Amino acid sequence: MKMCKIFLSHHALLIIFSLILCSSITVRSQLTTDFYQNTCPNLLQVVRQQVKIALVNEMRMAASLLRLHFHDCFVNGCDASVLLDGSDGEKFSGPNKNSARGFEVVDTIKSAVESECSGVVSCADILAIVARDAVLLSGGPSWKVLLGRRDGLVANQSGSNSNLPSPFETLDVIIPKFNAVGLNITDVVSLSGAHTIGLAKCATFSQRLFNFSNTGAPDSTLDTNMLSDLQNLCPTTSDGNNTAPLDRNSTDLFDNHYFKNLLNGKGLLQSDEILYTSNLSVTTTKPLVESYSSDSSLFFKAFANSMINMGNISPLTGSAGEIRKNCRVVNS
Ligand code: HEM
Ligand SMILES: *[C@@H]1O[C@H](CO)[C@@H](O)[C@H](O)[C@H]1NC(C)=O
Ligand SMILES: *[C@@H]1O[C@H](CO)[C@@H](O)[C@H](O)[C@H]1NC(C)=O
Ligand SMILES: *[C@@H]1O[C@H](CO)[C@@H](O)[C@H](O)[C@H]1NC(C)=O
Ligand SMILES: *[C@@H]1O[C@H](CO)[C@@H](O)[C@H](O)[C@H]1NC(C)=O
Ligand SMILES: *[C@@H]1O[C@H](CO)[C@@H](O)[C@H](O)[C@H]1NC(C)=O
Repeated sequence: MKMCKIFLSHHALLIIFSLILCSSITVRSQLTTDFYQNTCPNLLQVVRQQVKIALVNEMRMAASLLRLHFHDCFVNGCDASVLLDGSDGEKFSGPNKNSARGFEVVDTIKSAVESECSGVVSCADILAIVARDAVLLSGGPSWKVLLGRRDGLVANQSGSNSNLPSPFETLDVIIPKFNAVGLNITDVVSLSGAHTIGLAKCATFSQRLFNFSNTGAPDSTLDTNMLSDLQNLCPTTSDGNNTAPLDRNSTDLFDNHYFKNLLNGKGLLQSDEILYTSNLSVTTTKPLVESYSSDSSLFFKAFANSMINMGNISPLTGSAGEIRKNCRVVNS
């Protein structure tokens, strides 16, 4: 705050400048990259090693772990609320039920961290480090993870239902959901690029395949070869649990192929494809999709920046919340 006062002056431009500077200092200064330097110096190596083991066992786990950090941060901030067990927890919200996965892997990583330095590292910070490592080990960018989050005391199932975007929503609904947690249109597009890895169930895209929006025909923006593959995978009689790659032909690799797909009508979810095809996209998301599809390093830089933005959503710091011993339950 002292720094801010130095810049205050009667000159309007300087005041505006110091407001921008001060607000960015306030946001950024809550978390730091060296938070555990003295209390858990080997933290990053321990987590990296555990993520490696998990991916050797199942490559898709990179995607599942990355998604957990997203589903955590959009609900009550990045406070590990998504990890809390209980029928009233976020695990049973619409977006997570029979869908969010990787909880056992997080338990294993937390145990390894507890063995290294007991009672010090929050589950929320573990999710943030794990997400970075999952991306890096899938061939994506790296970034310095900001740390110092503490774990929340409550899950919020209704918050999970209302704050997380749905694959059936249009851009005029999805963009405000990102805005509501302080993220902008650049973040919407770059973070959607997380769909360069992982799988989705038929139930999340089959509305596009046969009678889209009661037109009596499939979604006309969907590539016809991909359409017939997906119709075979997801017949109207199926239970919706079959899965398809979010990024066809580059399923486990973190690259910019997801954006190339959008240009070719090969986005899997409706919420993916509309970033390029909807009327609203023309002045908002489409130019970014085009840029990222043709410039992988631009996408990587934007993704890393947006992951830091997402990781900064309303962290609990200082003496708020707690350091959970077991990520599934609040301390007794
Ligand atoms: C833009 C709004 C978004 C929507 C509507 C959306 C929706 C979805 C849906 C429906 C699935 C498939 C779930 C299933 O079938 O079980 C999924 C998977 C996934 N999402 Fe998103 N998502 C969005 C943004 C994000 C963001 C911001 C990230 C991370 C930064 C992310 C990461 C992932 C990953 C990695 C998967 C694959 C998970 C796995 O294979 O286990 N998504 N998403
Ligand atoms: C749950 O999330 C909603 C939407 O973000 C918020 O308004 C509400 O205060 C939260 N409730 C709790 C108990 O955290
Ligand atoms: C979104 O915020 C980033 C900073 O994180 C900024 O570089 C970018 O220009 C903003 N995008 C839009 C569309 O305002
Ligand atoms: C598509 O769905 C609408 C509404 O349910 C229905 O009236 C129409 O007959 C369906 N069209 C086809 C070709 O199944
Ligand atoms: C999909 O599988 C889950 C178990 O993983 C099951 O509970 C659910 O009922 C299945 N979905 C449908 C639509 O049958
Ligand atoms: C791309 O992936 C689809 C399904 O995942 C597969 O049917 C097709 O043969 C693949 N095409 C190439 C060129 O690898």
